[in-house]
Amino acid sequence: MDKKDKYDKVSRIVETAFSGDLALSFEAKMSLMSAVLHMEFGHWIFCGFYVMRDPKILEIGPYQGNILACTHIPIGLGVCGTSAKEKKTIVVDDVRTYANYISCDSDTISEIVVPIIHNKEVKAVLDIDSPLLSDFDEIDKLSLERISSII
Ligand code: SME
Repeated sequence: MDKKDKYDKVSRIVETAFSGDLALSFEAKMSLMSAVLHMEFGHWIFCGFYVMRDPKILEIGPYQGNILACTHIPIGLGVCGTSAKEKKTIVVDDVRTYANYISCDSDTISEIVVPIIHNKEVKAVLDIDSPLLSDFDEIDKLSLERISSII
Protein backbone atom coordinates (compact mmCIF):
# COMPACT_ATOMS: atom_id res chain seq x y z
CA MET A 1 0.00 0.00 0.00
CA ASP A 2 1.45 3.43 -0.86
CA LYS A 3 1.29 6.27 1.66
CA LYS A 4 -1.72 7.89 0.00
CA ASP A 5 -3.70 4.67 0.43
CA LYS A 6 -2.53 4.39 4.02
CA TYR A 7 -3.72 7.93 4.79
CA ASP A 8 -7.07 7.22 3.11
CA LYS A 9 -7.42 4.14 5.31
CA VAL A 10 -6.55 6.16 8.43
CA SER A 11 -9.18 8.76 7.43
CA ARG A 12 -11.88 6.13 7.04
CA ILE A 13 -11.05 4.49 10.38
CA VAL A 14 -10.96 7.70 12.42
CA GLU A 15 -14.05 9.16 10.75
CA THR A 16 -15.95 5.98 11.66
CA ALA A 17 -14.55 6.00 15.20
CA PHE A 18 -15.49 9.67 15.65
CA SER A 19 -19.04 9.29 14.37
CA GLY A 20 -20.45 7.03 17.07
CA ASP A 21 -23.52 7.98 19.09
CA LEU A 22 -21.48 9.13 22.08
CA ALA A 23 -19.44 12.31 21.62
CA LEU A 24 -15.69 11.97 22.03
CA SER A 25 -13.51 14.44 23.92
CA PHE A 26 -10.55 16.19 22.31
CA GLU A 27 -8.22 13.90 24.34
CA ALA A 28 -10.03 10.76 23.20
CA LYS A 29 -9.80 11.84 19.56
CA MET A 30 -6.09 12.57 19.86
CA SER A 31 -5.55 9.13 21.44
CA LEU A 32 -7.41 7.31 18.68
CA MET A 33 -5.77 9.31 15.92
CA SER A 34 -2.21 8.74 17.17
CA ALA A 35 -2.94 5.02 17.55
CA VAL A 36 -4.45 4.59 14.07
CA LEU A 37 -1.68 6.58 12.39
CA HIS A 38 0.96 4.50 14.16
CA MET A 39 -0.78 1.25 13.22
CA GLU A 40 -0.42 2.21 9.54
CA PHE A 41 3.05 3.75 9.76
CA GLY A 42 4.83 1.37 12.10
CA HIS A 43 8.32 2.67 11.31
CA TRP A 44 7.67 6.07 12.90
CA ILE A 45 9.57 6.66 16.15
CA PHE A 46 7.02 9.04 17.66
CA CYS A 47 3.53 9.95 16.58
CA GLY A 48 1.41 12.09 18.84
CA PHE A 49 0.29 15.39 20.20
CA TYR A 50 1.53 18.28 22.27
CA VAL A 51 -1.39 20.18 23.79
CA MET A 52 -1.53 23.95 24.38
CA ARG A 53 -1.87 24.72 28.09
CA ASP A 54 -2.45 27.93 30.01
CA PRO A 55 -0.17 29.89 30.49
CA LYS A 56 0.87 29.16 26.93
CA ILE A 57 3.20 26.17 26.73
CA LEU A 58 2.98 22.85 24.90
CA GLU A 59 2.56 19.83 27.17
CA ILE A 60 2.91 16.21 26.07
CA GLY A 61 -0.44 14.67 25.11
CA PRO A 62 -1.53 11.27 23.75
CA TYR A 63 1.17 9.56 21.68
CA GLN A 64 2.52 6.31 20.34
CA GLY A 65 6.18 5.34 20.16
CA ASN A 66 8.84 3.59 22.07
CA ILE A 67 10.36 6.72 23.62
CA LEU A 68 9.91 8.90 26.67
CA ALA A 69 8.96 12.19 25.03
CA CYS A 70 9.95 15.67 26.28
CA THR A 71 7.21 16.84 28.65
CA HIS A 72 7.03 20.57 27.84
CA ILE A 73 7.98 22.72 24.84
CA PRO A 74 7.88 26.55 25.03
CA ILE A 75 6.15 28.38 22.17
CA GLY A 76 8.73 29.32 19.56
CA LEU A 77 11.20 26.60 20.55
CA GLY A 78 11.84 23.40 18.61
CA VAL A 79 9.86 22.33 15.57
CA CYS A 80 6.70 21.97 17.67
CA GLY A 81 6.97 25.38 19.33
CA THR A 82 7.73 27.02 15.98
CA SER A 83 4.74 25.38 14.32
CA ALA A 84 2.52 26.55 17.19
CA LYS A 85 3.91 30.09 17.01
CA GLU A 86 3.66 30.42 13.22
CA LYS A 87 0.40 28.41 12.97
CA LYS A 88 1.72 26.44 10.02
CA THR A 89 2.93 22.94 9.17
CA ILE A 90 6.69 22.46 9.30
CA VAL A 91 8.55 19.66 7.50
CA VAL A 92 12.16 19.02 8.48
CA ASP A 93 14.03 16.75 6.05
CA ASP A 94 17.06 16.36 8.29
CA VAL A 95 16.80 17.40 11.93
CA ARG A 96 20.62 17.41 12.18
CA THR A 97 20.65 20.57 10.07
CA TYR A 98 17.71 22.32 11.79
CA ALA A 99 19.08 24.78 14.32
CA ASN A 100 15.94 25.25 16.43
CA TYR A 101 15.49 21.55 17.17
CA ILE A 102 14.69 19.77 20.44
CA SER A 103 15.89 16.17 20.43
CA CYS A 104 13.85 13.58 22.32
CA ASP A 105 15.32 10.59 20.48
CA SER A 106 18.68 10.24 18.77
CA ASP A 107 17.35 7.98 15.98
CA THR A 108 15.02 10.65 14.56
CA ILE A 109 16.17 12.06 11.21
CA SER A 110 13.08 13.74 9.74
CA GLU A 111 10.02 15.28 11.33
CA ILE A 112 6.68 16.87 10.50
CA VAL A 113 4.58 19.05 12.82
CA VAL A 114 0.99 20.07 11.99
CA PRO A 115 -0.86 22.64 14.13
CA ILE A 116 -4.44 21.87 15.20
CA ILE A 117 -6.28 25.20 15.02
CA HIS A 118 -9.76 25.82 16.43
CA ASN A 119 -11.30 29.30 16.22
CA LYS A 120 -7.95 30.72 15.08
CA GLU A 121 -6.23 29.40 18.25
CA VAL A 122 -3.66 26.61 18.30
CA LYS A 123 -5.12 23.86 20.52
CA ALA A 124 -2.37 21.30 19.94
CA VAL A 125 0.23 20.18 17.44
CA LEU A 126 0.53 16.76 15.80
CA ASP A 127 4.20 15.75 15.83
CA ILE A 128 5.67 12.80 13.91
CA ASP A 129 9.30 11.63 13.98
CA SER A 130 10.84 9.27 11.44
CA PRO A 131 14.19 7.44 11.35
CA LEU A 132 14.31 8.00 7.55
CA LEU A 133 15.84 10.99 5.79
CA SER A 134 13.22 13.22 4.08
CA ASP A 135 10.38 10.86 4.99
CA PHE A 136 7.71 13.58 4.75
CA ASP A 137 6.59 15.27 1.54
CA GLU A 138 3.59 17.17 0.20
CA ILE A 139 1.41 14.04 0.40
CA ASP A 140 2.13 13.68 4.13
CA LYS A 141 1.60 17.40 4.70
CA LEU A 142 -1.76 17.58 2.92
CA SER A 143 -2.99 14.24 4.26
CA LEU A 144 -2.05 14.97 7.87
CA GLU A 145 -3.57 18.47 7.66
CA ARG A 146 -6.79 16.93 6.34
CA ILE A 147 -6.89 14.10 8.89
CA SER A 148 -6.00 16.27 11.90
CA SER A 149 -8.63 18.86 10.96
CA ILE A 150 -11.42 16.45 11.95
CA ILE A 151 -10.33 16.39 15.60
N1 SME B 1 11.61 17.36 18.07
C1 SME B 1 10.56 18.11 18.68
C2 SME B 1 10.41 17.78 20.13
C3 SME B 1 9.39 16.73 20.42
S1 SME B 1 9.91 15.17 20.08
O1 SME B 1 10.29 15.05 18.68
C4 SME B 1 8.82 14.00 20.50
C5 SME B 1 10.78 19.60 18.48
O2 SME B 1 11.85 20.01 18.03
O3 SME B 1 9.88 20.37 18.80
